[in-house]
Amino acid sequence: MRTQVGIVGAGPAGLVLARLLQRAGIDTVILERRSRSYVESRVRAGVLEHGTAQLLDQLGVGQRMRREGMVHRGIELRFGGESHRIDLEALTGKTITVYGQQEVVKDLIAARLADDLPLHFEAEVTAVDGTVLEYEQNGVRHRLECDFVAGCDGSHGVARLAVPDGALRTAEREHPYAWLGILARSPAAAEELVYAYHERGFALHSMRTPDIIRLYLQVPRDTDLGDWPDTRIWDELRTRLDLPLKEGEILERGITGMRSFAVEPMRHDRLFLAGDAAHIVPPTGAKGMNLAIADVRVLAEALTAHYRERTDELLDSYSRTCLKRVWQVQRFSNWMTTMLHRHEGDDEFGHRVQLAELEYVTGSTAAATTLAENYVGLPR
Ligand code: FAD
Ligand code: PHB
Repeated sequence: MRTQVGIVGAGPAGLVLARLLQRAGIDTVILERRSRSYVESRVRAGVLEHGTAQLLDQLGVGQRMRREGMVHRGIELRFGGESHRIDLEALTGKTITVYGQQEVVKDLIAARLADDLPLHFEAEVTAVDGTVLEYEQNGVRHRLECDFVAGCDGSHGVARLAVPDGALRTAEREHPYAWLGILARSPAAAEELVYAYHERGFALHSMRTPDIIRLYLQVPRDTDLGDWPDTRIWDELRTRLDLPLKEGEILERGITGMRSFAVEPMRHDRLFLAGDAAHIVPPTGAKGMNLAIADVRVLAEALTAHYRERTDELLDSYSRTCLKRVWQVQRFSNWMTTMLHRHEGDDEFGHRVQLAELEYVTGSTAAATTLAENYVGLPR
């Protein structure tokens, strides 16, 4: 089998890339290790930046997002027993859309299949050999020859591992805590997202629909879910968020470690890395999926210039262009994380400086604008 661009992974990065290239008349094949139902039910991010929502509209996959997604004009920060609103719209003229990542993925998969374009599930890429992808489906081995390979296979993928030792520089930081996240059938207890800094640790109230909420608690890295029965989770959430939460059925629960990671360059020869395959940000800034989509916009423009105008300038600057945004997003995600989490072993001084930072961010229009313009998404 042969194609122009072989895409490893049907997450947001791979699916959006394929859709962008389709519009430019470039052939792609997507290979995805998991089943369709698995990728469509994986609970992950929930906040779409202004530009991400606009792009989904432009790609013709925004109808359900516009119907079922929730446009939010602000977020709340809670600390010291008080709530402070960051009015995103007043400060930036922009809004965010709360719509689950797996809903975005479902919409993109449905559009791809409706257009009868190749998307293979349970097709695990086992080796990236230059521009040849070797993969296994139903116990049968296949080869896909490509002009270019897009490694959109997430943080545990194979594409990055195909780059020879020494060709990539890695910058990373493990944060000393994790998030315990739940998805619950319960009405939203606030109209907007609530980020809370509490002496017992960070907590977040988010949502998926008016009746399904997504909640997170800062917990130690080595936390065992078995130590967190439902009542303990709800009590802790109520204490930290200070919201009238109604206990409902917990539909999903998990623990995610907090990690910052980035490789450079995001290209090796004809292999291009995008999304989590190249970088991870802690979720406090709600940026992971948005950043993955920002990468593939750059990549799609570069590949389009290659095929249409026979120029490789944009391919050559791909990594440099992406990394500027990657490091802005790393900076913002790191700032939000350190500002909102309780740091073990921190003394009274550290705690007071953190509270002062939060007071400043919510009290100064200049500082609030800084948070808001990053949160809704920096311009391209
Ligand atoms: P992914 O969505 O990871 O997609 C990669 C795809 O490649 C997967 O479908 C995978 O199955 C496939 N793949 C991997 N290896 C192979 C192979 N060898 N062959 C074929 N296919 C392969 N961000 C937030 O903003 N908020 C959150 O709350 C949040 N929660 C998260 C929770 C978890 C557990 C994780 C892992 C991430 C979370 N993120 C969150 C981050 C966000 O979801 C990611 O940044 C986003 O999914 C990145 O999209 P992607 O397309 O680059 O990678
Ligand atoms: C979510 O809804 O899952 C979510 C929202 C905001 C974040 C992280 C996760 O910062």
